[in-house]
Amino acid sequence: MCQDCKKKFYITTPIYYPSGNMHIGHTYTTVAADTMTRFKRLTGYDAYFLTGTDEHGQKIEMKAAEAGVTHKEYVDKIVANTKDLWKLMNIQYDDFIRTTDERHEKIVQKIFRQFYEQGDIYKASYEGQYCTPCESFWTASQLVEKDGVKVCPDCGRPTELVTEESYFFRMSKYQDWLIEYIESHPDFIQPASRANEMINNFLKPGLQDLCVSRTSFKWGVPVDFDPKHVVYVWIDALTNYITALGYGTENDELMKKYWPANVHLVGKEIVRFHTIYWPIMLHALGLELPKQVFAHGWLLFGNDKMSKSKGNVQYAQPIVDRYGCDALRYYLMREMPFGSDGNYTNEAFLTRMNADLANDLGNLVSRTVAMMEKYFDGIVPAWKNDAADEALDTPLREHCAALPSLVEEQMDKLQYSQALAEIWKVIGECNKYIDLTQPWILGKDPEKKDRLGNVLLMLAECIRYVAVLIYPFMPTTPERIFQQLGVTDETLKTWESLKCFGSLPDGIKVCKGEALFPRIDIKKELEVLSPAADKADKKEEKQQKKEEKKADKQEKKQEKKHEEPEYPAEINIDTFFQSKIQVGRVLECTNVPKSKKLLQFRLSFGKDGERTILSGIAQYYPNPEELVGRQIVAITNLKPRLMMGIESHGMILSAVDGNDNLRLVSVGEGVEDGAIVG
Ligand code: ME8
Ligand code: MG
Repeated sequence: MCQDCKKKFYITTPIYYPSGNMHIGHTYTTVAADTMTRFKRLTGYDAYFLTGTDEHGQKIEMKAAEAGVTHKEYVDKIVANTKDLWKLMNIQYDDFIRTTDERHEKIVQKIFRQFYEQGDIYKASYEGQYCTPCESFWTASQLVEKDGVKVCPDCGRPTELVTEESYFFRMSKYQDWLIEYIESHPDFIQPASRANEMINNFLKPGLQDLCVSRTSFKWGVPVDFDPKHVVYVWIDALTNYITALGYGTENDELMKKYWPANVHLVGKEIVRFHTIYWPIMLHALGLELPKQVFAHGWLLFGNDKMSKSKGNVQYAQPIVDRYGCDALRYYLMREMPFGSDGNYTNEAFLTRMNADLANDLGNLVSRTVAMMEKYFDGIVPAWKNDAADEALDTPLREHCAALPSLVEEQMDKLQYSQALAEIWKVIGECNKYIDLTQPWILGKDPEKKDRLGNVLLMLAECIRYVAVLIYPFMPTTPERIFQQLGVTDETLKTWESLKCFGSLPDGIKVCKGEALFPRIDIKKELEVLSPAADKADKKEEKQQKKEEKKADKQEKKQEKKHEEPEYPAEINIDTFFQSKIQVGRVLECTNVPKSKKLLQFRLSFGKDGERTILSGIAQYYPNPEELVGRQIVAITNLKPRLMMGIESHGMILSAVDGNDNLRLVSVGEGVEDGAIVG
């Protein structure tokens, strides 16, 4: 089929912030996109896969300054590392867009200008309210009243009056249209629960106009008709999905061909930007909306010893170096349903490698090939009708023949894990078929030679199906299987060839090779991956589990207390002044191993020195290192408390807003670390 007649499929990942090297969470989304692209190509689509980096904004500006290099030098290094990582993971993207690319910046400026000219963006030079902790502008009517004072609707803290000139996008104008669109396109936001969340939490309460320019820093795309301003980083970033296709240029064939995108894959924390701001921007440009935004869950890094000191971030490289990229890709796509959260642990990874890859798949292939060599000199025998045993053969044949459509059905729903589960059901059935047919017994009886031949052929054909179908997930394993099966004919490796069960020709010669996935000694590997995991550590682990339970209980108790506060009607001012409340700066912030709730902060209190404080807010910060550099407010004269074997010397103040985001209490600019709050 010619490229032009093929069905098109355009898939994207978020463009990641190159504020640090990409970890296994970014790898997860990118592998998912690559797997889908390969699957679509396998099934006859003309697929296009875009990824890239989101390089502007204050965060990067700060990081570069810390490293003492220019912005561009800083991001160039990380982008190079990122590309290496995608190569390592066998990611075949079609384009890698950087928001610092000229092709991107020019179009961002053009789009911004168009919004302005058509009245979607207006400039408001106003005396307004500014919430410093949230870095958000609010109009007077947006503020909410608390105890007679008007405060920030996000964090509930007092705002300050500022005079700032900014551009605003009239989001409110499109609110009703968007509600109607989401409600009439049930596939647009997936999983569906996210759609309800967007409608109920953001759209129905009333969409506010969005501040879309900044004057307080420079590292961004300048507004070309008003260069004091840089374009708000999310407006800049979201447009990547069309600037990469040449939108707004003379060279826009890709745009014509691939837009609208079939799916934007995103982590659940950025679904709001992709399902509210982005659709409105597109609509204002007169463009179609992506067919789907799929919000997947988070990989949590609970139990990882190795990166204790690094905030439990797991990187792909050490795993791939040791076990190959297919094993990691398999694990990422298999372990948790797409849409749900899950933990990455070396133990779970190694366990799956042994069970699913070494045992189920690896053994099936090696046993089949070995028996073919032993009983037939490695030559695949022809099917003999009179040696069939339909009671045993039919169920397996029918199941395997149905497998492609079972897999496709799951992939259409982006249920990667379920798709793999379907494949492994057939692998399991093959292994059962070996147990039931007992080829080693058939092999003892020369009269049963034909039956034995049928059994082995049946297995070899099932293995061929499996090899074709796992390709999108594990791109290098199928070729190793085909080599062992002696399949050299490329047409036997296609989706087409799965339309007819029994296509494996007789007479080809199998060839025993290395084990696909050698069985591993999990205990030993764990020690290699996390050298500290020796016996003494096991003990500590047990102790920690106990503590975790205790901490959990304590945390639950505390939560209860929070829910049902029993504050005295009034307290003496002296009582208040017994608490020493200070401003601190986050030096380090990491997950506490084995605890789902606790973050460990290393804080500087200026001339009062440094201290460690634990806080049960991990659920709000999938990337706790993002908090480094922030000023927070803490009570510093609390009695030290032992949690998970770590002493906590204080308490960080925070509040949860109406959207279940945690807002850390903070003070305005210019306050020194260690300053007393009161
Ligand atoms: O948000 N588990 O970039 P980012 C699963 N630049 N996925 C994870 C993850 C985890 N623990 N951590 C990161 C940005 N991801 C913006 C996007 S798009 C126009 C702009 C993945 O570097 C997941 O896909 O913070 C998440 O949405 C993305 O990386 C966030 O990357
Ligand atoms: Mg993020």
